[in-house]
Amino acid sequence: MTISQIASKISQSATLKLNSTAASLLAKGEPVIHLGGGEPKSKAPLDAVLSAASMLRSAEVRYTPPDGTAALKKAIIHYTEQWYGKTVSPQNVMASSGAKQALMVALHALLDPGDEVIFPTPYWVSYPDMVKLLGAVPVPVLPEDGSFTPSIRDIEKATSSRTKVVIINSPNNPSGAVYPREFIADVVQFCESRGLYLIMDDIYHRLLFKGANPISCYDFAKDHGDSSKLIVINGVSKQYAMTGFRIGWAVANKGLIQVMTNIQGHETSGPSALLQHAAVAAIMGPQSCVDSLRTTLENNRNVMIQQLKSFAGVRLIEPGGTFYCFPDFSAFNKDSVKLAELLLEKAQVVSVPGKEFGLDGHLRLSYCGTITDIKKGIERIKWALDKDSPSELQIGERKLVRDWA
Ligand SMILES: Cc1ncc(COP(=O)(O)O)c(C=O)c1O
Repeated sequence: MTISQIASKISQSATLKLNSTAASLLAKGEPVIHLGGGEPKSKAPLDAVLSAASMLRSAEVRYTPPDGTAALKKAIIHYTEQWYGKTVSPQNVMASSGAKQALMVALHALLDPGDEVIFPTPYWVSYPDMVKLLGAVPVPVLPEDGSFTPSIRDIEKATSSRTKVVIINSPNNPSGAVYPREFIADVVQFCESRGLYLIMDDIYHRLLFKGANPISCYDFAKDHGDSSKLIVINGVSKQYAMTGFRIGWAVANKGLIQVMTNIQGHETSGPSALLQHAAVAAIMGPQSCVDSLRTTLENNRNVMIQQLKSFAGVRLIEPGGTFYCFPDFSAFNKDSVKLAELLLEKAQVVSVPGKEFGLDGHLRLSYCGTITDIKKGIERIKWALDKDSPSELQIGERKLVRDWA
């Protein structure tokens, strides 16, 4: 089989392998605990469900404009005003099948082979492969100070004459780090001064803890006109627990949105009419679902932190948002893939190896499930890794004995 040189560079995900092992264990009725998930467990807002149902019942579900329906664009404009304090027009907005597609189409519109794209490490798994798919070069940047928060010096040092785009994702998947306001200000100004496109992947921007408010990158921009190189990505997946609805969007300058719309038109003809309808209802409806999701996640986060703090050998930088944390398990095994495999095999706990996010020795643990899952999951991990913990563990009817650590 001859496949394209570019496609052959796209890596197989270790997570998918772990997930399929977990799925087959679950199918056999094994008591697997999933701390690897990337989606809230709450239900989608009722308004969104009813809205999609009423359109479906009409049996008239048609093509929409490739950049989204007028109603969804209006809702995104409203959202941008409310959460970013920024007034934009319909020509600044493109809706997509998820934030992922909005990101991919933006990169498609911007990158030529050989162009470089900078993003901080740890990074969302898809960034390097999205960039590679276009023949461009991912440039991950590990913060020099050993934290999860980059400094503008880190970004500056990674910049070359081939740099075209910087991607910033805060709150961050996988670390849950919320980059400080000063850094966002610096990176907006840095990109403006160097003529670089800046993609703000804000998919978690309302899932912040301790009463923190979302940061608007527009607050720091000088260029608000048609030459602005700021691209804001967002969507309904995380904040409204609507991952399967697949609606996201990009807000950017009109010229870029036009090019992105041309690309998307040829690739997919735009997102599903039905699900755009649902997204409008979520964005324009009561927002209490987001508040209650945030409260649940903050409680879960506190339990997760408590559990990990009592875990000798594990180092944790506390997450300020999202539903992930990214503890350092290198004291037990520096190879995070092997570590995640061991935890699944021995303790039936699913985690995501840090290697996927550019930082080995760490595991991404999600706290979007139940408090019981968090407590039991960490108890099992402790049992599997910590020689000083009791060597026996009861899982349901079964008594497990640790005979390897
Ligand atoms: C940082 C980040 N960006 C984008 C996405 C994609 O979101 P969507 O479900 O809207 O495609 C995800 C999903 O996990 C994410 O974690």
